[in-house]
Amino acid sequence: MPPDAWDRDSLVALLDFHVAAGIDLALDETPHDRFAEAATPAVALPRPVQVPAAAALSRPAPPSFPAAAAGPPEQVAADARALAATAEDLAALRALVEAFDGCALKRTARQLVFADGNPQADVMLVGEAPGADEDRDGRPFVGRSGQLLDRMLDAIGLDRSAVYLANTVPWRPPGNRTPTPGEVAICLPFVRRQIALVRPRILITLGAAATATLLDRKDGITKTRGRWLAYAGEDGGSVPAMPMLHPAYLLRQPADKRLAWRDLLALRRTLDGRDGPELASPSPT
Ligand code: URA
Repeated sequence: MPPDAWDRDSLVALLDFHVAAGIDLALDETPHDRFAEAATPAVALPRPVQVPAAAALSRPAPPSFPAAAAGPPEQVAADARALAATAEDLAALRALVEAFDGCALKRTARQLVFADGNPQADVMLVGEAPGADEDRDGRPFVGRSGQLLDRMLDAIGLDRSAVYLANTVPWRPPGNRTPTPGEVAICLPFVRRQIALVRPRILITLGAAATATLLDRKDGITKTRGRWLAYAGEDGGSVPAMPMLHPAYLLRQPADKRLAWRDLLALRRTLDGRDGPELASPSPT
């Protein structure tokens, strides 16, 4: 049967089938020769078409963005750095990230996933990138790995009112692929500014990617997890930082939850002043 003869229910069922299979993004209706495109100077690509889940069909379409700024990632990252430095508080930072068109991830994501939790918290956790659930909800760590993270925090008496959560890139990479080094470099000034504005007493990097990005440690999360390292802040100061296993990894490797438990206990002891690095005094409220 040709697709234009299908009724609405059949089309919705077909879309649901694709979304359930992980195909939630149609890049375009016609194929592209990306090798040929890469050989020509950067041009703005057409905005990809989002394939909505059935439940979203009745919602209005997301607003369309201007095409991402063309230019080499180093230049765009320098622009992002200059822009991020102008944000004097988290609301201003959020607004300028929302308006920023320099990262191509914005074009395929449904919305910005900026942060969740308490901006006054002592502990800030940073993951890699939003997934499909976060992209739908607009908050980090709301899917399966986020639910596991909530249970891990609960086990040491913390919840989202006691932590602040963000990601190294604030838009979902299409199909949950790993963000490219260029995308990470472009978004880095924003997350660094976010850390500077939150001024956590402890920074937790969740997984290898966030650890490599923020702590410049590329030697593997199984080596670095549970160690106290130093995050070099933009003001020249440093924040005690501990890499931990990412909850998505723990969902795949539940036997390693015992390692995560050790690290959580170390975090708890440090927060209680019983062990670990000396922490800066709490920020005045
Ligand atoms: N994984 C991440 O790294 N961040 C999220 O927000 C969700 C899953």
